Amino acid sequence: MKTADTLIQKVDQIPQVDLGYFPTPLQECPRLSETLGGPRILMKREDCSGLAFGGNKVRQLTFTIGDAVAQGADTIVHGAASQSNHCRQAAAACGKLGLNCYLRLARDHKSILQGNLLLDNLAGVDVEIVDAPFGPELDVVKYELAEKLKTQGLKPYVVASPRSTALAAVAFTWCIAEIAQQQQQLGIDADWIYTCSVGGTQAGLVLGTKTLELKMKPFGIAPIVWEGKLERMRTAANNAAELLELDTRVTDADIQNTDDYIGQAYGYLTPECIEALKLVAKTEGIFLDPVYTAKAMACLIDHIQQGKLGRDDTVIFLHTGGTPALFAYQEELTADL
Ligand SMILES: Cc1ncc(COP(=O)(O)O)c(C=O)c1O
Repeated sequence: MKTADTLIQKVDQIPQVDLGYFPTPLQECPRLSETLGGPRILMKREDCSGLAFGGNKVRQLTFTIGDAVAQGADTIVHGAASQSNHCRQAAAACGKLGLNCYLRLARDHKSILQGNLLLDNLAGVDVEIVDAPFGPELDVVKYELAEKLKTQGLKPYVVASPRSTALAAVAFTWCIAEIAQQQQQLGIDADWIYTCSVGGTQAGLVLGTKTLELKMKPFGIAPIVWEGKLERMRTAANNAAELLELDTRVTDADIQNTDDYIGQAYGYLTPECIEALKLVAKTEGIFLDPVYTAKAMACLIDHIQQGKLGRDDTVIFLHTGGTPALFAYQEELTADL
């Protein structure tokens, strides 16, 4: 069995840049637990990872941009949904490191100059809204732009799957090692870790908990219907295992992930997620985001109400950030005021 220390030593061997404040806090949420009459709840505050309002992508970009810099890149090309947290954090990381940054964002129902899109523009990077849906078609736009930038003498690096997802899994394997150390300091041994993910975040949690043989089981809540999600996460976890030179291999049976809390579609709020968001703000003074973490919290609350989690259980909720998107959802969030 590997220890958290030896796992962290392996992570240290992977090319990386210094972007955030780690370890992120592991915070007790006693008033939330009490209000729900449920398990002991702790929050792992990736929203406090330090760079540009934080979020899970700061830890991930530590390795993606580390990869880019190790390859001699001077320019990052990225793109996703128009309120992408990943792109906002990439824009800020490029500013901090003195890299050029080009974002190509998919036009959608939240292509408004608020939230993340506002921050992208304030960060002074090259932003363009394009008429290609998020996914393989947007990746084509990103790779075509990279080719054009090469002819201008730049050295671009495109952030895209599967490389970016595997490096995210490296990042969240590291996060698990960090949590294992924090658990030891606090004298706890959690039963579950809940998070919103359909990619590298959960892949890393699964690889990390399996490698360290922790009691804690990851439970993922998807923010989007993603065809082939198990294969995507398994591949990312096993690619990360190879990068980290671990013997552990992840199978589909290791991955628990539900689509039940997405609602109408990605980026559309559910009544339960709005309620969850307000409850956590009211009881703990912590803001969730409307697209990802509030849906994950709606699932945790539902599981407590269904009796799937009891008073004797301990749950870690991984807060993956995303809070700037709140400001793009003013209408939906204030409909009852
Ligand atoms: C706030 C937040 N939470 C969760 C996720 C999901 O991460 P992934 O599915 O890439 O693991 C994202 C991805 O953009 C995010 O921005």
